[in-house]
Amino acid sequence: MADHKGNKNNEQKLTNRQGHPITNNQNLRTVGNRGPATMENYHFLEKLSHFDRERVPERVVHARGAGAHGYFEAYGSVGDEPVSKYTRAKLFQEKGKQTPVFVRFSSVIHGGHSPETLRDPRGFAVKFYTEDGNWDLVGNNLKIFFIRDAIKFPDMIHAFKPDPITNIQDAERFFDFCANSPESFHMVTFIYSPWGIPANYRQMQGSGVNTYKWVNKDGEGVLVKYHWEPKQGIKNLTQEEAEAIQAKNFNHATQDLYDAIEREDYPEWELFVQIMEDGEHPELDFDPLDDTKLWPEDKFPWLPVGKMVLNKNPEDYFNEVEQVAFGTGVLVDGLDFSDDKMLQGRTFSYSDTQRHRVGANYLQLPINAPKTDVATNQMGGQMQYKRDLAPGQNPHINYEPSSLGGLQEQEPAGKEHQPYYEGKLVRESIDRQSNTKQAGETYRMFEDWERDELIKNLVNDLSDCDKRLQDKMMALAEEADEEYGRRLREGLENAAKGKSSMHPLGNESGPDAPREAEQK
Ligand code: HEM
Repeated sequence: MADHKGNKNNEQKLTNRQGHPITNNQNLRTVGNRGPATMENYHFLEKLSHFDRERVPERVVHARGAGAHGYFEAYGSVGDEPVSKYTRAKLFQEKGKQTPVFVRFSSVIHGGHSPETLRDPRGFAVKFYTEDGNWDLVGNNLKIFFIRDAIKFPDMIHAFKPDPITNIQDAERFFDFCANSPESFHMVTFIYSPWGIPANYRQMQGSGVNTYKWVNKDGEGVLVKYHWEPKQGIKNLTQEEAEAIQAKNFNHATQDLYDAIEREDYPEWELFVQIMEDGEHPELDFDPLDDTKLWPEDKFPWLPVGKMVLNKNPEDYFNEVEQVAFGTGVLVDGLDFSDDKMLQGRTFSYSDTQRHRVGANYLQLPINAPKTDVATNQMGGQMQYKRDLAPGQNPHINYEPSSLGGLQEQEPAGKEHQPYYEGKLVRESIDRQSNTKQAGETYRMFEDWERDELIKNLVNDLSDCDKRLQDKMMALAEEADEEYGRRLREGLENAAKGKSSMHPLGNESGPDAPREAEQK
């Protein structure tokens, strides 16, 4: 086998993309060996002009990523019950059934070669190549999000990305958005704690974040949330640890994943679901469709449904990791959308950006194409290289309906889920916003060193911000938890006096040991 850099004997012969042999790849064709150059040199023109087009636009978010192939293996059950009670999705039904997957992990805000040590959510996107076509579960490492309405997403990302004039990321712009979007406070509490810097991709959780539905054969739906639990344990970094890594290696997470798979130490995650009856649930102090909230585990237990193993590195980064296209609209029979307003907005955004980023025929690329037959009447467009014809289909009939050998509609696999809607069309936020309560619970659930880090990191970044933003953030922290508010206030006052706001770190429950997942 070639080593991981692919070193072999040089036996392959160089051609251009027309298949013409290349006999001289060192010198331009020139008049005499000092030039000038000629312009009819096809090989040179092809080489340079292709190089000039080596990039597609990078993802507007989640540009920095690493990927791997593997499989998902179903348990056939959900906790103690047969999974068919809740969903008819084929990939879950049979114990031991394996479905191939491709996973892309990522960081969100900065560009394609930014350091992997940054304080940022991490993307955790899984493409399942099922027998019913593809299912994408496009999640993050953390289980909640900054906002609950998709219309705020472009503003949020603008605030978090570098300033449009200086091109420098600015904590004041971040806190300006967050202080004025109080629903973000729970996520800010996670992000400024060590949970904002996972040690690597193998030792982090994943979550679908948004609420989806499962639908059974009778068309009955339940609300569902998905969570991935790493068998490798969970490990997060202090700011100081992250800086030490970044000083030496800004690709450490990609490298950790790649190297683990090369040495056959295959990372694994178990997939859990939380299930809730469909409905508004007035007994809860939050709305089940609000993605800034955790569903409490004591009321909605984590139920195992399968496991995922990553056992193959990509053969080509660009073909697979760069061009892979995940989307929340990509569901299979038995899985459905909830009314979660973030999920609905996301579902427009992903395939829209991919038609721009990769091209109209992005689904014909091997990494994106389902491993089932595709038979559509969609055709043409930039970079189409084949028609999606079914075996035996009359290629003249690119429309439907037809009696002349065109494509036919299929029978539904079960009763359709038909939720009933009645209401006024409005532009209003949901009730039961409860913006700070769970942030307080999360603060109290942290270990001492995590709380110390949270306060230290918040003080560091907030101390240079406008007083109005500091006041709003302190008010949110006080509302969440009395101690949280007090420590943030003291830290900011000390910083203002030029004193150190640091609390001693490194108590017994220090950051080094991998943790089990008590942080559900
Ligand atoms: C990537 C939009 C919220 C997870 C993306 C991309 C867009 C986008 C445009 C780039 C996709 C591409 O170029 O292929 C949005 C919008 C959101 C939203 C409009 C809110 C309304 C979220 C949330 C999560 C999330 C809540 C976490 C559950 C991801 C991940 C990727 C991504 C993991 C990277 C996928 C990959 O590896 O290719 N998002 N996003 N996004 N988003 Fe979102």
